[in-house]
Amino acid sequence: MGRIRLLPETVASQVAAGEVVERPGSVVKELVENSLDAGGRKVDIVIRRGGISLVRVIDDGWGMDRDDALLSLERHATSKIRSAADLQAVATLGFRGEALPSIASVSRFRLTSREPDAVAGTEILVNGGKIDVVRDGGEAPGTQIEVRSLFYNLPARRKFLRSENTESRNIEHQIHLQAIGHPEIGFSLMRDDRILFQLPATATLGDRIRDLYGVELFQRLVEVDGAASPKIRISGFIGQAGLSRQNRSQQLVFVNGRAIESSLITGAVREGYRTALMKGQYPVTFLFLELDPSAVDVNVHPAKREVRFRDPNGVREAVVRCIQQTLEHARSDWQEKFRAPVRPTQSTPVSTKATPDLRLRADSTVPETTHSELPHLGAVAGVVDPGRVQGSQFIEHASRMPDRRFDPTALQPQRRETKPAQQQFEIIGVLSKLYVLMENSNGLVLVDQHAAHERVLFEELRRRMEQQGVPTQKLLLPQTFDVPPRDADWIEHNLSVLQRMGIGIESFGPNTFKIDSLPSFLDVSDPPQFMRKVIDDLKSASNNASAMRLGEEMIAKTVCRHAVKANDLLRYPEVEKLIRDLLDCDLPYCCPHGRPTMIQISLAELEKKFGRKV
Ligand SMILES: Nc1ncnc2c1ncn2[C@@H]1O[C@H](COP(=O)(O)OP(=O)(O)OP(=O)(O)O)[C@@H](O)[C@H]1O
Ligand SMILES: [Mg+2]
Repeated sequence: MGRIRLLPETVASQVAAGEVVERPGSVVKELVENSLDAGGRKVDIVIRRGGISLVRVIDDGWGMDRDDALLSLERHATSKIRSAADLQAVATLGFRGEALPSIASVSRFRLTSREPDAVAGTEILVNGGKIDVVRDGGEAPGTQIEVRSLFYNLPARRKFLRSENTESRNIEHQIHLQAIGHPEIGFSLMRDDRILFQLPATATLGDRIRDLYGVELFQRLVEVDGAASPKIRISGFIGQAGLSRQNRSQQLVFVNGRAIESSLITGAVREGYRTALMKGQYPVTFLFLELDPSAVDVNVHPAKREVRFRDPNGVREAVVRCIQQTLEHARSDWQEKFRAPVRPTQSTPVSTKATPDLRLRADSTVPETTHSELPHLGAVAGVVDPGRVQGSQFIEHASRMPDRRFDPTALQPQRRETKPAQQQFEIIGVLSKLYVLMENSNGLVLVDQHAAHERVLFEELRRRMEQQGVPTQKLLLPQTFDVPPRDADWIEHNLSVLQRMGIGIESFGPNTFKIDSLPSFLDVSDPPQFMRKVIDDLKSASNNASAMRLGEEMIAKTVCRHAVKANDLLRYPEVEKLIRDLLDCDLPYCCPHGRPTMIQISLAELEKKFGRKV
């Protein structure tokens, strides 16, 4: 008995729609992509009630004649590929020939389209996948598609929709992706009769980011070093070290112009940031990868949201390297601000005399100053200006950082050969025993002394690890511990790396390991537990861990305990030495956990705040 039956065309389309059209945002994505593929220069989007009641997308692209317009609603009808071979090098956003019939099968659908030089256009009305009306239409050249009452004929699906607000936000996100991916195209979005944004076509990605997210965010981005390899070109913008978000909404990645989600790339970005990113936070990226289309398989996800790379490792490494280089360049920008002389000493020396009005009355008592808490100036150098201390005057007198449960000789600076030019700054004082206030050519700088010391110690230890390997300490008693098979696999795989990091570990039977030494800078009471934690942390950090990466993670985790605490009092030379060491770091502007070490408040910002400049 024949049990198998071919599904009617409309049902087949609804099944396909299940994959392609998840929610109103997917409708917007598919329609906008079609508009872009059709050479539209301007795309206007209107939504009502979270797109559930209406999505309308209007473009000024090359349109369709009547035959094509009818064909576009058939499944597997596309103008974008012709043969299986074309799939190897897809240059358009669409290629499956499924979006329009899928959308039309789950909504009340209206398409009007007109080619630029045609006398009349075509209008087609479709209801739940059934074509109702085909007639001449008189719209402007281009294509306009209206999707009403989404999922009206699939109540089960409709129930899965979220609130109108959530759906609207998802639509906005989809349009942001397209807008960032195509700065040369104008976009507008109208939501429930209110214009949400109008983005003019712009010449550059930077302008588009500024228009969409504001100048404040833009100022905290760094342009990616366009360094290209023959196989992959990476461009765009990424957040400065220290800039991060609580979710992925501003972590945008494009491959050959297509917005994609890729754990491979987000993992690589994270690794590139390394210690410049706080745990649990996400970086801000507008990252564009361009590869030979044949090196990317775009046909792996029904909504075309994922891709597969032919050489995933190559892509991963290129991204990691690119992020690192970009952040390093950003550092030299920072240092520029410490290179120019600090202004007031040059032009308008600050008067040290208090103005008469502010002088204490003779009978008033002056509170006893706790001298240990105040900057100790005179003792260190012949002070010029009692209010301020010129940073460079201390250089010869600067003493080492105080020893805080940490062997200071171990931290004898091993400066890199290329010592950066003398930094210019003036220390003003220390606020609340924690924040160092200073001035550079750009204005006011606040430094968190604890975070700063963490960064300095971290880089010092890392340098030592690179140069001399890690000094280890034998455990009194070697310890064995068991791990689950998958972890055992990981340890086996990374055994030599762990050993180079100073962990004396070896296999001791199936799923059992023995440790007999640990890096001497660690203070571990329960080595097996420590190892399990390290493995957990490191496994998630990178599945292709390098010795350096593992080492950095470990150091970052231990450094904090040794760094100057918030309330530790530092004497001026110590503060100054700390700042100089900080500015010498590879990544001076954030601690090894990604928190900022310095905040710059520019003179321009101050002028604005005080209303001197509008
Ligand atoms: N806005 C538009 N302007 C001009 N032609 C369009 C437009 N939208 C769709 N088309 C035509 O209709 C065809 C079918 O569109 P549809 O979105 O269903 O498939 P696709 O874009 O080819 O592939 P995919 O399913 O991957 O999106 C397209 O190949 C294109 O030729
Ligand atoms: Mg399409």
